Formats: sequence, structure tokens, C-alpha cells
Amino acid sequence: MKKSLWQKYNNLKEFDSIKEDKQADVLIIGAGLTGITLAYNLINSNMNVILIDMKKCFDDTISKSTGKIAYLQELKYQDIMSVYDFDRVIDRRGTNCAKFDAAETHGYSPDILPLWVADMDFQAPPCVLEALNRAIEHGIFGYPITGRGYYDAVIRWFDTHFGWKIQKDWLIQTPGVVFALSAAVRAATVPGDAVLVQPPVYYPFYNVILQNERKVVESPLVFENGRYSIDFADVEAKIVENSVKLFILCSPHNPVCRVWTVEELARLGAICKSHGVTVISDEIHCDFAFPEHPHTPLRQGLSRAGRADHYLHRPQQEF
Ligand SMILES: Cc1ncc(COP(=O)(O)O)c(C=O)c1O
Repeated sequence: MKKSLWQKYNNLKEFDSIKEDKQADVLIIGAGLTGITLAYNLINSNMNVILIDMKKCFDDTISKSTGKIAYLQELKYQDIMSVYDFDRVIDRRGTNCAKFDAAETHGYSPDILPLWVADMDFQAPPCVLEALNRAIEHGIFGYPITGRGYYDAVIRWFDTHFGWKIQKDWLIQTPGVVFALSAAVRAATVPGDAVLVQPPVYYPFYNVILQNERKVVESPLVFENGRYSIDFADVEAKIVENSVKLFILCSPHNPVCRVWTVEELARLGAICKSHGVTVISDEIHCDFAFPEHPHTPLRQGLSRAGRADHYLHRPQQEF
């Protein structure tokens, strides 16, 4: 990106006036792949976009001194394309990737359109490749520890993007979200217990319930006027009828693309609280939301209702 376009801001409050000053339609905070991709789409729709890059906050020296230094860039289509090439087709076949190489293993034609996994075919952003290359050049791959930098990055991400102040002690690492769902089902229920899901929903939710010998209870989402919504009366009735112990929420919801509002989350939370139902919220897609429909972490939605439970996230899906 052209360095001359960068300006330095010392205080996050200064962002408030930027959108107006620059007559931008949208201000995006975060110049990771998500921010850049969103900017790219909006610019393609003829919108003026300002992108705030927070990455300097993660630089150790700077974050220790102020934690509030950011850079602003007025983006042009060419600027984005000079860093991220979304048009380049990279052949992934023969790299043991599930998306393409599983086709033949499962008896499908090798040229089948592989829509069975949410896996992107863009290269990871340059900063990620550089960090991985540094580790490879170092060349020793012994037992790692989870460094302070990891916790700082996660904590700052949730604060910056969702206004949610999380604590280091709340963070537990797992091999993946589906693994964590299964562990949470075992922790919160016993065999035979009823677990509520809202179909249509990500199919492994069923696997983690059935493979752990629990019972699936469904409260289907309602499709009306091109939009899915929750039938709250049905949720409550199913909980009562089946003595549901656990509810696996998908927020935002895959596959219906709904970002649940604070009101919807609070209402669900109130129902679950009044019937003693534990909630696990799979928020893996929380960074895929348009600015006008911001994602609310369950914990914040539920703080209105009093009960907050387990929250699952995995950054790789977006980046
Ligand atoms: C709702 C949801 N949860 C979990 C996952 C996968 O998580 P992981 O690969 O970390 O197990 C996906 C992948 O598409 C998903 O859509």
C-alpha cells in the first residue's frame, strides 16, 4: 500500500470525526483480511471507504506505551488489489486439502465443484506468511507455550471489534470448535439428556449430540418474507416438553446468515435462564457481519437476561 496515504492517530476518539471529515460512507476498523474483503466489496459498490488499520496496536513496543496508535488509509480499489490478489487462481489439488483432494477419495469426479467445506482459496495475508516464514527459518519446532502476545491479541480483538472486555483467565484453547462443542456437551449433560438446536443448522451440531448419546430436540427457524427468525414460543415449548438441559446456539447462524440482535439474544437468554438451560454459543462466524448488522457476543446479549455460558470462537475461519 502507498505509504504516503497513511496518517497516524494517537487516540481512538479521533475516529469519530474521521468519517464525517473524509465524507466516507463507511468506516471499517481492522485491516485484516476481513476488513480488506469487506472494503473491497463496498468499494466495488461505489462506496467511499475508510479503513483503520489497528495492526500497530499489536506491536509490542507501541501497545506497551499507549495501546492506542492506529493508522488510517483512504482506500482505492488499486491499493487493495496491489496487496491482496483476489483474482489469482491457486491450484490446491495434490496438497492433501480436504476441499479438493477429498473428492476422489470419496468417489466423486475430481472436477466436482467442492462446496462441502468453508475453505477459501485465497493466499493468507502477507503478514501471516511472513510470521510463518520466520518460524520456519528458525527451524526448531519444540513444545510451544501460549505467550502473552496471543492473549493480548485476542483480548484486544474482542474489545476493539465487539466492545467486549474479556479476561485472560476466560480463554481456553482447544483443537477446534467442533471438538470444543463435543467436550461442552459431555461437560454440561449426561447420556439421554435433551439438547436443543435450531435447524437448518451446521450439521456437526447433530453429530456432537448423537455421538455422545444425547437426544436432539429441534426448534426450527421460521422462514418468512425472505428472512429467518426465531419462534420463541416454540423454543420455550420444546424446552419444557423435553426437559432440555443444553442449547447449542449458532451466532451468527450458519447457514441462514442471520446475525442475532441484542433483543433476540436477551429473549433467548431469558427463556433459558427461567428453565435452567445452559447455552453454548458457537460464534465462529462473528467477524462476518455487515456494519449495519453488528454481531453481539452472547455474553453481552445475555447480560440483560442474567445467564452467560460458554462461547466458542476460531479465528482461522475468517482469516
Ligand atoms: C458454525 C460452525 N462451527 C464450527 C465450524 C468448524 O469449526 P472447527 O473447524 O474449528 O471445528 C464451522 C465451519 O464451517 C461452522 O460453520
